[in-house]
Amino acid sequence: MLKVLFVCLGNICRSPTAEAVVSDQLIGFGLQDLVQLDSAGTAGWHIGKSPDKRTQAAAKKRNYDMSLLRARQVEPEDFFRFDYVLAMDEDNLKNLRMIEPEGHNAKLDLFLSYIPSADCKDVPDPYYGGEGGFNLVLDLVEEGGLALIEELRSKL
Ligand code: 4NP
Repeated sequence: MLKVLFVCLGNICRSPTAEAVVSDQLIGFGLQDLVQLDSAGTAGWHIGKSPDKRTQAAAKKRNYDMSLLRARQVEPEDFFRFDYVLAMDEDNLKNLRMIEPEGHNAKLDLFLSYIPSADCKDVPDPYYGGEGGFNLVLDLVEEGGLALIEELRSKL
């Protein structure tokens, strides 16, 4: 069993999108019982909230259901609970490095780092932009998810 935590800023747009999309992808590969997923935010503003309505609407158009997800804040103990702690962008990777406890064995990395050809390894924050930003998140997460699953399969 491998455990993966996706981390963005608010845990209402990018990281829950990754949780929902990769969850469906794992089912497609028959790996749903071998990989456990979760998501969290480096900020605590939206703790307990459902994913952003715009995020849910964009995801629903591609048949991803995010309605049961609830936001939580990442905590230092997560580095001991998960094998992979994957940040959706460089800012959140930096924030994670600041709370990273000593002695953990989790792999801390950018989510998109598993796409070898990607020019930009950040999933851009869609919160203050238009609908296009939410679709871009989905495009990047779908591609990044498949690349991540390749990595996970090599470790299972
Ligand atoms: P996320 O997006 O980090 O992808 O969940 C954001 C959600 C909320 C805010 C910023 C980004 N906010 O400023 O409240």
